[in-house]
Amino acid sequence: MIAQSFIKELLDRADIYEVVNRRVPLQQKGASAWACCPFHNEKSPSFSVNRERGFYHCFGCGEHGNAISFLMKYENLPFVDAVEKLASEFSMQVRYEGGAPKPKSGKPRLSEIMQRAMEFYRDKFNSDKFSQDYLHNRGLKDETIERFGIGFSPDAWHNLDAVFTPDLKPLLLEAGLQRTGQSGNVYDFFRNRLMFPIRNIRGQVIAFSARTMIGEEPKYINTGDTPIFTKGSEVFGLYEARKSIQDKKRVIVVEGQMDVIQLSQAGFGEACAPLGTAIRAEHIERLLKMTDHVIFSFDGDAAGRKAAKRAMDLSLPLLDDAQKVSFVFLPEGEDPDSLVKKSGAPAFEEMLKKALPLSSYLIEALSQGLDLAVLEDRNAFIEEASPLVRKTKSPLLRDGLIERLSTAVGYKNSDELRKYFGFPVLPPAAPQRPSGFGNQRYSFGRGYD
Ligand code: GTP
Ligand code: MN
Repeated sequence: MIAQSFIKELLDRADIYEVVNRRVPLQQKGASAWACCPFHNEKSPSFSVNRERGFYHCFGCGEHGNAISFLMKYENLPFVDAVEKLASEFSMQVRYEGGAPKPKSGKPRLSEIMQRAMEFYRDKFNSDKFSQDYLHNRGLKDETIERFGIGFSPDAWHNLDAVFTPDLKPLLLEAGLQRTGQSGNVYDFFRNRLMFPIRNIRGQVIAFSARTMIGEEPKYINTGDTPIFTKGSEVFGLYEARKSIQDKKRVIVVEGQMDVIQLSQAGFGEACAPLGTAIRAEHIERLLKMTDHVIFSFDGDAAGRKAAKRAMDLSLPLLDDAQKVSFVFLPEGEDPDSLVKKSGAPAFEEMLKKALPLSSYLIEALSQGLDLAVLEDRNAFIEEASPLVRKTKSPLLRDGLIERLSTAVGYKNSDELRKYFGFPVLPPAAPQRPSGFGNQRYSFGRGYD
């Protein structure tokens, strides 16, 4: 049994703000800190943390409690495990009364298997000169390599057999670390590659992305979907970036993991990347829960433009009134990795400052190749804008977009386009609307929300 007096001490010492914020980034507003509730689905924050009193409370679903109950609920831990974890996070030694601590039970979880694999790959990296030289040549410092936990999987089919006892074999398959061949033989999936661990927002290793250093195809291979990893929704680097995102109040989305790592080393710790797939709504949704400003950085080529359009398309239904998305286009042939190495961090920061806000980008992208002085082109422009405007969630952004579009096609005011898109015409000299409270007023139209 854990001593009651210890629990009291632990709750006094463990800062609930820190406990929650490590897992669910909080924003201070007034006496409390706020976040979207991790225990129910919501778009605007009603989950509050009161540091002084050591409590959290959700005004949406009613969940409330202290640092221990938060851990139990959030990480799905039994009481004793939550106490132990919390104690170790605050460097305290758990005190028991009447007997020894309960032994750890059961089979290890997949994330523990992944953690052990990561440690193995780290170890191998530390004794592999070729991998070290490769990353040093790409400009990474040891502390950066360490921070991202980059490792090396040696060129052999059965590395992991020596690391894990035979009873854990089924878990290696389940975790995607091993595969079964046609003849039924089991072999390591990752061989002779740099190993980039992918961590979830709690810092647990849930997958690996692995890069060849000898020009094999494909360049990168990733863990397939497993019970703890869904490729389409995880964001590489988000765990490592969480603090910078909070401090800088923005997130930079780039295309590859080397970009994330290089940017982080250059002082842009707030960078992250979707994992070997095009950006998806789930990614953006996740980022908009952590910050109000998402900056997408794309290559300046055709593929980059296409990706930017997709990001715009996916962002419109997700953005709240107070949130914004902007776009940076890099010079052709550069990615953030090469750019910061070549031109330095200030040059990249300069590009971020000049990022195109979504509204400007939308006009620019849609008018590409059109002459808005020509009726047919104008119509095509409006036609293309129509679905985008209609799916815009934020009334403020939507109204603003209609204004900008009206100006772009040379209309005197926005009435015509508002009617065309199916929104009521704004009353003349509308009083200023405080942001966030405009919804009801204009949503009686055709209910595109
Ligand atoms: P480096 O060459 O190491 O700098 O990587 P990069 O990020 O510049 O590569 P690239 O621009 O070719 O690809 C961007 C991202 O797409 C990578 O970081 C990977 O996540 C992913 N990717 C690239 N090549 C492959 C591949 O062959 N297979 C898969 N699954 N993903 C890939
Ligand atoms: Mn690159």
